Formats: sequence, structure tokens, C-alpha cells
Amino acid sequence: MEKKVYLTRRETFAAAHRLFKPELSDKENFELFGKCSNPNWHGHNYILEVVVAGNVIADTGFVIDVKDLKEIIHKYIISKVDHKNLNLDTDFIKGIMPTSENIVIAIWKELVDKLPDGKLYSVKLYETENNYFEYKGE
Ligand code: NI
Repeated sequence: MEKKVYLTRRETFAAAHRLFKPELSDKENFELFGKCSNPNWHGHNYILEVVVAGNVIADTGFVIDVKDLKEIIHKYIISKVDHKNLNLDTDFIKGIMPTSENIVIAIWKELVDKLPDGKLYSVKLYETENNYFEYKGE
């Protein structure tokens, strides 16, 4: 019987964002989005977890080569978000409301085609130590 193994790669990045609707006043935005609406931006130390699942490849004993996984995450995600302004700098987030819900979906969309077919299982994004958001492509 094939045995499925789940591998999690953890990365961290720091980024600024602002949650706001341009048609609302700063006060109304604060009521809706709290400190994430700060007009001069604010930041989070995010933790990203990318979970890859699959059967162990007999030849290597790997689900995926972790070096390859790390390089893909760095090239397509971390280099575009770390120490960036997510509203302005990040091509795959620019133009969407940069909540963690939307960011985790955007990261999934960037990664799913870069990894071997069907291997991406889940993307988790920790915005604080108390909140994390997970997307599985559905
Ligand atoms: Ni925030």
C-alpha cells in the first residue's frame, strides 16, 4: 500500500500592509479594520507554512527534495514579500485587500503550478501567534 507523507516547510517574513476601503474615512476604516488600517501602514512578522503531500519516491526516499521546495518558496514568494509593502510592492497581492485570508489564497495560486503536479496540500499563514489562516485550494 502506498503511504502518504506530509512535509511542512516553514518560512518567516516581515511585511507592511494596510487594510482600507478608499471610500471610507480613516475613522470608518479603523472601525472596520482596526490597527491594520493605520494610514501610514503597519507590519506583521508572518510565518508561512507550505505543506506538500505525496507518496515516498522509492529512488530517493523523498516526497519532494526539501532543497527544491525551499528554493521555489523563496523565488516565488519570500523574495516578493519579505520587507515589502504588500499593497504596493508584491505583484501577486497588489490590488487585492491584503488580509491574511486573501494572502494565503494568493500564495497558493503562485505555488501550485511551480510544484510537482498535485503535491501542494496546504498553505498556512500565521499573522500573529494566535491567528493562522489555511487554504487547501478549494
Ligand atoms: Ni495588519
